[in-house]
Amino acid sequence: MKKAFYLETFGCQMNVVDSEQIVDLLHQIGYAQVPSAELADLVLLNTCSVRDKAERKVYGHLGRFKPIKDLRPELIIAVGGCVAQQEGERMLDKVPYLDLVFGTHNIHRLPELVQQVEERRRRGVETDFLDRETRLNLFPERTQRDSVTRFVTVMQGCDNFCSYCIVPHVRGREISRPSADIIAEVRHLVAHGAREVTLLGQNVNSYGIRDHGELSFAQLLEQVNAIDGLQRLRFATSHPKDLTDELISCFGRLDKLCKHIHLPMQSGSDRILRLMNRGYSAGDYLGKVEQLKKNCPEILFTTDIIVGFPGETEDDFQATLDLVEQVGYADAYTFLYSPRIETAAARMPDDQPPHQKQQRFDRLLELQRRISADIWKKDAEQVLPVLVEGVSKQGQGQLFGRTDWNRIVNFNGTAELIGSIVPVRIVKVFRNSHLGELAAPQ
Ligand code: 5AD
Ligand code: SF4
Repeated sequence: MKKAFYLETFGCQMNVVDSEQIVDLLHQIGYAQVPSAELADLVLLNTCSVRDKAERKVYGHLGRFKPIKDLRPELIIAVGGCVAQQEGERMLDKVPYLDLVFGTHNIHRLPELVQQVEERRRRGVETDFLDRETRLNLFPERTQRDSVTRFVTVMQGCDNFCSYCIVPHVRGREISRPSADIIAEVRHLVAHGAREVTLLGQNVNSYGIRDHGELSFAQLLEQVNAIDGLQRLRFATSHPKDLTDELISCFGRLDKLCKHIHLPMQSGSDRILRLMNRGYSAGDYLGKVEQLKKNCPEILFTTDIIVGFPGETEDDFQATLDLVEQVGYADAYTFLYSPRIETAAARMPDDQPPHQKQQRFDRLLELQRRISADIWKKDAEQVLPVLVEGVSKQGQGQLFGRTDWNRIVNFNGTAELIGSIVPVRIVKVFRNSHLGELAAPQ
């Protein structure tokens, strides 16, 4: 009989890709995926430690599995991802019913580790960082899934050491995957039904710069853009300081590159940006935004912003609000600063009372909601090309897809449209999605 595993994934798109690899590896050793922990022989959490809240969630979720383990002691519980990488051994001490902890660098060893636990040979931790050559060969090879949109990893790790960020500590140094492998993977995915790919890396702009003779990221985009059958191309995430003229020139020039860029600004205050070790000023950031708008007037921006960084004053915060207004983001992911162990910012004095941080956070959210609503309402009554991704969660014959600007649209239609780009008239604009109806081909 087949054994069963249950997997929950937290955090960023990197973790989503890692989880796809986990699924493939477990299939290889005879495990089938099931939709609940109650049905499983193996439960895995793929975790995120970018903020304290995400980390605490992991411990909360693990608690839910304890009663199941009490009933069925042979159940294997494993934790992977960034919390595992960072906590290692400590997790096994803290959670006595946990069997296995594996880091972001050790996913490829999962089959062997699970088999060791199965045979009750060990309760284990595997969080060693790997050398460069080993890592280079470990970019996920994932089997076919009939999904219209796929993520493809182009690089891993980060060398930027923004003062608040734990990523360089848990994901390690930057390493780029050979362009030939990336192009081959995209071709393979397209041959199996993918129509849109998002090239993924913590800092895609520094793609290839450490590897002699490798393509630049802009050149890589050009080559992927040329792949027959691919209809849309996106990338994430791009650091404003490294956004080159060459990359900016891809917008408006490469026909498949979507007119949307996620460009994390973090703060609008030059003083805070310096403390964050971001390597750009608000003026530099705005300069890049203007250049992008010039090349591609229809482009929309999204961003990440941290509120309540240590020492943030009202003036600093006002500078953030000003930059948000000036850029006019379609959406912003806003975060309350959360001190992370081992980071430089965790040692900076922070005397701002929590209620003040929360007030600022709420003010920013209110401003962003107004700007988002103003931008998205312009889509009403427009007929927009929508790449159909699948059957909508709302059910009732509804499909969902996305516009070029990455906006979700739900509309009535039949499943044979999945995978094609169809014209959809936007009839209602909600906060997070559009409702549309199929329009006649234009
Ligand atoms: N506190 C709050 N937000 C953070 N981010 C990263 N580290 C922290 C932290 N310590 C946010 C940044 C980043 C996004 C992925 O998470 O805005 O761009
Ligand atoms: Fe973290 Fe900065 Fe690297 Fe982004 S660029 S992953 S925020 S260190």
